[in-house]
Amino acid sequence: MNHLELIRALPKAELHVHIEGTFEPELMFAIAQRNKVAIPYQSVEEVKQAYNFHNLQSFLDIYYAGANVLIDEQDFYDLAWAYFEKCAEDHVVHSEIFFDPQTHTDRGIAFATVINGLQKACEDAKTKLGITSHLIMCFLRHLSEEAAFETLEQALAYKDQIIAVGLDSSEIGHPPAKFERVFAKAREAGFLVVAHAGEEGPAEYVWEALDLLKVNRIDHGVRSEEDPELMQRLIAEKMPLTVCPLSNLKLCVVENMQQHNIRRLLQQGVHVTVNSDDPSYFGGYMNDNFIAITEALDLSQEELKQLAINSFEASFMSETEKTQWISKIHALA
Ligand code: ADE
Ligand code: ZN
Repeated sequence: MNHLELIRALPKAELHVHIEGTFEPELMFAIAQRNKVAIPYQSVEEVKQAYNFHNLQSFLDIYYAGANVLIDEQDFYDLAWAYFEKCAEDHVVHSEIFFDPQTHTDRGIAFATVINGLQKACEDAKTKLGITSHLIMCFLRHLSEEAAFETLEQALAYKDQIIAVGLDSSEIGHPPAKFERVFAKAREAGFLVVAHAGEEGPAEYVWEALDLLKVNRIDHGVRSEEDPELMQRLIAEKMPLTVCPLSNLKLCVVENMQQHNIRRLLQQGVHVTVNSDDPSYFGGYMNDNFIAITEALDLSQEELKQLAINSFEASFMSETEKTQWISKIHALA
């Protein structure tokens, strides 16, 4: 088996994907038409041309605008279903999906509309595609602590359908400390917790996510490498980092893929995983991310397998399920 065949054959778990970031322009146009919502583009080509980002904020502005066409439960279902079809193509067998309720509730869309559409797609993914999944609700960090508390309140009614809470959106200037109290309440309510940290923001934000938010995983975390003491802590605690290589490239976190540190992090013993983040905006789903780092960093087949094993170990699946998938990876030639 060559590297490409191995990438395709490996069962994989995705732990960092924003459902609003899987919105393909074709589907965006179809839903905009169905809902009679105007979008500022004439064609799918024009949309794609707008996807030229120079930092996180330049992407977020376009990402939030795209989400405006989502109105009905069916829209959220269609969005998630299209993503699960991509998972099936890439042999992603399990996905832990972020959603940003405030992007929708702030436009007058009911929390129930969002979660019911997503939940139905998750159920169909299990029965029709054999793909398991969990939903992770993210707080938008550019909004207030109070708004996050209100969102958490709404989520309590859907506790059984949401495994964890997360923190995303504009990182710099919105440190994890801003959400210490809301994360404490979420943990008390029984949610697992994750947070974006160390994507554009400094290693200090990763410390805060660990010490103040008490996260189970760090999303991105690639800037942790700038702080040797933090690296020791991540390695000692086997703290997972959900790394998103194509995202880092498209948002200019790295200048080119050869400079990406995922292989160095792996070799130093950090528990890194590969993920797609916002695949419709960044030019690729799970396997595209694997292929990009394999080509740029000359990853070995053992390293590819380790990355896939890490994805299951770092997931919120049961220990039994983890063991089953990992044994399938060991069984590959
Ligand atoms: N929301 C969607 N993608 C994101 C990213 N890469 N960082 C922060 N917030 C996001
Ligand atoms: Zn993200």
